[in-house]
Amino acid sequence: MPVPLFDLSRLGPQVDEAVRDAALRVLGHRGYVLGAEVEAFEKDLEAYLAQNREECHAVGMSSGTDAQLALLMALGIGHGDAVISTPYTFFATAGCIHRTGAEILFCDINPSTFMMDPESLRSLLASLQRGSDGFLHSPKGNRVRLIVPIHLFGAICDLEKIMAISAEFGVEVLEDAAQILGGEYLWKQGTKKAGIIAPTSYVSFYPSKNLGAAGDAGVALCLDAEMAENLRRIRNHGMEQRYYHKVVGGNFRIDAIQAAVLRAKLPFLDGWNATRRANAAEYRAAFTAAGLLDRVTLPAEPHLSSGLTNHHIYHQYVIRVKDRGAVMARLTEKKIGCAIYYPVPLHLQECFAYLGHKSGDFPVSELAAKESLALPIFPGLRQDEIGEVVAGIRESIA
Ligand SMILES: Cc1ncc(COP(=O)(O)O)c(C=O)c1O
Repeated sequence: MPVPLFDLSRLGPQVDEAVRDAALRVLGHRGYVLGAEVEAFEKDLEAYLAQNREECHAVGMSSGTDAQLALLMALGIGHGDAVISTPYTFFATAGCIHRTGAEILFCDINPSTFMMDPESLRSLLASLQRGSDGFLHSPKGNRVRLIVPIHLFGAICDLEKIMAISAEFGVEVLEDAAQILGGEYLWKQGTKKAGIIAPTSYVSFYPSKNLGAAGDAGVALCLDAEMAENLRRIRNHGMEQRYYHKVVGGNFRIDAIQAAVLRAKLPFLDGWNATRRANAAEYRAAFTAAGLLDRVTLPAEPHLSSGLTNHHIYHQYVIRVKDRGAVMARLTEKKIGCAIYYPVPLHLQECFAYLGHKSGDFPVSELAAKESLALPIFPGLRQDEIGEVVAGIRESIA
């Protein structure tokens, strides 16, 4: 029985209808870019994220990548600066840092969570020299301005430790929340949604994300009203008044259709996240019953003991397996969808050869790139399909 890696049609007719109505409304009023649809979505998203009435500002952008670039521009990151992130992730994070002219500094990940390892971060920061300007400097002499940890695959990284270390060394944090809309974290005796813990953050609404648009879209998030104003200018070529450019920005504007579609889908998000978690529990039961737990490492749930429901929202279900080639071959033969996120860690990508890294520099990231395999987890995936995926894996490594 074929099993797709991802199937948007399984969200059902109610969602299809809500999406169609939203898109048709925009086609009807023809206000295609920014405007009331975007403002309404931004307000709904702020209310969704800031349950405890914290100040939180959402600025819709043309993609997650553009949201990150706009944030880096708003933070004034550029030539002479350095930004720390991890090499095992999607390209966008490091790509945006490069595009500002800043230097990329990598630190390795934790082997069980796939995310920034606070101890590696501490060693990196501790190895740097502080200059007469008060900033830490990279060996190339650039000021270390920012740390970008990534909430990978729908799990929350160890932000409490990362933010404590960043405060100790005087470096700001920007959360990459591209994959985690709806995830929650226990923060100073309260609950906070990922994306509004650090001062700045961003989310991607690429169609396969837990909340996906009908094309590309993203949002920049920040806790400061002035920063939000600046982001609004930057997304529209630095303009406040038409054709008067206060700062240099870009065209990072979100389409009204995307905002309307996202607003129509937002009320379903918590339900979809719950379904993804139920699918993960089903996988755990099936892998256990198949006796595979000694050969397959299931995704870590780093904040399971927090007592929160949304401690993991399973954007991806990524296992680790030594003989990945054999597993993929069998699953492909059975027409079962699977994918490698991500096959080449960023420090070994051709475009970053100029950074001078080599194999072995970030061994935990390199091993994750060799062993990780994403399996279907989308809402609407059936129990018998999960059984089929696990059976395929058992056949390949029995
Ligand atoms: C971790 C991470 N960061 C950034 C992005 C970029 O978002 P977008 O594809 O919306 O530009 C993605 C998208 O997949 C991502 O997964």
